[in-house]
Amino acid sequence: MQQNLEKEIDERRQGEALEMQNTPALVADRLLYIESYGCAMNFADSEIVASILQKDGFATTRNVEEADVIFINTCSIRENAETTARNKLKQYNVLKKNNPELVIGVLGCMAERLKSKFLEEEKLVDLVAGPDSYRALPQLIALVESGQKAVNVLLSREETYADLSPVRMNSNGISAYVSIMRGCDNMCTFCVVPFTRGRERSRDPHSIVKEVIDLHNAGYKEVTLLGQNVDSYCWSENPELRGKALKEAPKEQIVTFAKLLEMVALVSPNLRVRFSTSHPKDINDDVLFAIQKHHNICEHIHLPVQSGNSRVLEIMNRTYTREWYVSKVERIRELIPNCGITTDIIAGFCSETEAEHQDTVELVKWAQFDMAYMYYYSERPGTLAAKKYPDDIPEEEKKRRLQEIISAQHASQTQNFSKSVGKTFEILVEGVSKKSNDELMGRTTQSFVVIFPREHYKIGDYVNVEITGGTRATLIGKAVK
Ligand code: SAH
Ligand code: SF4
Ligand code: F3S
Repeated sequence: MQQNLEKEIDERRQGEALEMQNTPALVADRLLYIESYGCAMNFADSEIVASILQKDGFATTRNVEEADVIFINTCSIRENAETTARNKLKQYNVLKKNNPELVIGVLGCMAERLKSKFLEEEKLVDLVAGPDSYRALPQLIALVESGQKAVNVLLSREETYADLSPVRMNSNGISAYVSIMRGCDNMCTFCVVPFTRGRERSRDPHSIVKEVIDLHNAGYKEVTLLGQNVDSYCWSENPELRGKALKEAPKEQIVTFAKLLEMVALVSPNLRVRFSTSHPKDINDDVLFAIQKHHNICEHIHLPVQSGNSRVLEIMNRTYTREWYVSKVERIRELIPNCGITTDIIAGFCSETEAEHQDTVELVKWAQFDMAYMYYYSERPGTLAAKKYPDDIPEEEKKRRLQEIISAQHASQTQNFSKSVGKTFEILVEGVSKKSNDELMGRTTQSFVVIFPREHYKIGDYVNVEITGGTRATLIGKAVK
């Protein structure tokens, strides 16, 4: 049972090793292989890395055996994310036997967390680069090639890579990630992200809109705006407005997330706009009004709750209560009745009692989430929780609680999906079904996955599909006129 559970979680977030498509190797004299783990931000960052190295004469390859440089873009969010990365690095180190010139580097959150410890203790890599130092990669690679080890883990208050055009990798040519901000200032006590990604900073909206226009012109049909806390996006032309002063400035002087969403939605009515992640404390009516107003802003909000109990939320430093979260869900359903709502949940956080755990189970039953990423608590060194609260729920108990939450969530999904049968949804076709070449896969605005017979339809089409059945994770339907 547990193995299935871990497999499911792994498939969803950790196991999606990114292999890149071959980019044209016209002027390339060296080959880069990059594999990404963790959240969408890491996958977006790998595209920035490919862009930086392309200018330095690299093309990308999907075949690790022919690479001159191998990068693993890592995640530190839970312990097993780090174990996966270490195993990969060990595996790729074997390739050095036949290719002593091979450069192996670790990027991303684990690089930032472990810094030069990676070189001293692990001896698995030649190069360590944190999320804000990717512009230095050509110099770091040169250092390694001159026989030295290279580390750059400086975090920045300004870096947003705004001027770079990401090299779209492993893309279906239809959907693309667009990073709108970096870092996080929230300091949830369980979370390593503020330490690995640094302070929150928003990217210039002009560069965001330009990137979206370029994607639209290249035939893309969907963009997902990315940030750890998108609702706290805030930008001003006035460089003197910084930090708190910026957020408190009159609305006319700043670009809020709601404004940015509208700017992006106006690029084209045929371009779907998604966004992730929303923090319950920051999402506001302006964002919901923007979704109401623009048909192409998708009716889907990823709203991580973490726990259904107010005391646990307080020691997690989430800065909202159960009641606040419930009122946000009610407000979303009032303004956007068909909105897909998904969430993240942590089972067995420090000192959580059985009754507090049951509050989470009850909330899951009440909220009827359309999907949830569910994990049991994994203590991360250096976080506030690791310093302040003992990790005192035994692993077996954490797993039991997690399983209970998963069962409740699966029951909600089965119920929600049965309500979709007989309804017709507009689907954007994103690819061919994994199971059959004769079927296509697309998503509804709520982000429900739908499979239907291919007929004459193709990837990138908008198709009206009537739902005839399905499982809790996938709907099945047929195109209708
Ligand atoms: N910025 C997002 C979350 C980013 S991390 C937000 O605030 O909602 C993605 C998810 O990983 C979190 O929502 C949380 O559910 C989970 N997570 C983070 N740290 C964790 C830990 N130490 N143990 C288990 N799960 C964790
Ligand atoms: Fe982590 Fe909290 Fe920031 Fe999300 S909001 S990235 S959970 S600190
Ligand atoms: Fe992991 Fe870093 Fe993202 S820790 S979840 S890759 S921000």
